[in-house]
Amino acid sequence: MYTIVAKRELNAATVMMEFEAPLIARAARPGQFVVLRVDERGERVPFTIAGYDSGAGSVTIIFQIAGHTTRKLAQVPQGGAVADIVGPLGLASEFGGLRRAAVIGGGLGIAIAYPQARALHELGVETDVIVGFRTRELAILCEELEAVSSELTVMTDDGSNGNRGFVTAALERKLAAGERYDAVVAIGPLPMMKAVCDLTRGYGVRTIVSMNSVMIDGTGMCGCCRLTVGGERKFACVDGPDFDGHLVDFDEAMARSRMFREEERISAQAHECNLTGGAR
Ligand SMILES: Cc1cc2nc3c(=O)[nH]c(=O)nc-3n(C[C@H](O)[C@H](O)[C@H](O)COP(=O)(O)OP(=O)(O)OC[C@H]3O[C@@H](n4cnc5c(N)ncnc54)[C@H](O)[C@@H]3O)c2cc1C
Ligand code: FES
Repeated sequence: MYTIVAKRELNAATVMMEFEAPLIARAARPGQFVVLRVDERGERVPFTIAGYDSGAGSVTIIFQIAGHTTRKLAQVPQGGAVADIVGPLGLASEFGGLRRAAVIGGGLGIAIAYPQARALHELGVETDVIVGFRTRELAILCEELEAVSSELTVMTDDGSNGNRGFVTAALERKLAAGERYDAVVAIGPLPMMKAVCDLTRGYGVRTIVSMNSVMIDGTGMCGCCRLTVGGERKFACVDGPDFDGHLVDFDEAMARSRMFREEERISAQAHECNLTGGAR
């Protein structure tokens, strides 16, 4: 069992949890992830390691409530525990040699954009951060992102913070104004990462994407997270999650991400029924 030593709700749908996991904390590197099961019968779900403290022996994740398992996880209180956590998994991010970068985060990706931006900041890379939310009330981690960025741009779909538009529009403005980046790091929904890559390709800017494919084992054995990158077969869990975005076959990745949509819908519905005792 892995005890939750701290828990904080960042907004109605996003939770930060710190677990006691000394072995993982000792080995973790930025960009790696863990696979967690809430209970013995639970499914295995991957989460990026948002922070680790080898002294305290703890590992932090930040997750959005997306469906059945994340909803169940969000209900475990501080002091409670989850059945198991495996990690660190995946390859650490490689940011060596960068002097100036932009981190672009949207949707679920913002939880992952923060540790990436912090890792760049700690390497001394001058980093602009652009994040997007549906509306101002859903904005999270702004203070934390501000602290690790040269410039933070927060976009909202509805313009409620005075900055209406998608993250790609903000990035395009910067690139068109002559900003030069050694790399753009994009993390978020597949259509968003594809749009960022389409944009940066035209400017010849190296673009790193974090491929959060559906995963089961997280160790390269089940084949679930298969991707095509530069015409070659790759597994997001062991060859990534970071890849050269200009080489990723996003259309295939999007088709594969929809494979379990019906099962996810049924599972979420069953969870709702359990909560309401079947009453509808
Ligand atoms: C390497 C990696 C790192 C991730 N890091 C984070 C993170 O730091 N914070 C965060 O909020 N989310 C993260 N995710 C996504 C997170 O794993 C999913 O949101 C979670 O699995 C949803 O499960 P669910 O049962 O609540 O929702 P479901 O209803 O089962 O699924 C909702 C959506 O989540 C995705 N998903 C479902 N199952 C999996 C799975 N086993 N593996 C990957 N994606 C899945 C699918 O896109 C699906 O449509 C990460 C995913 C990967 C692969
Ligand atoms: S999750 Fe099974 S091969 Fe990657």
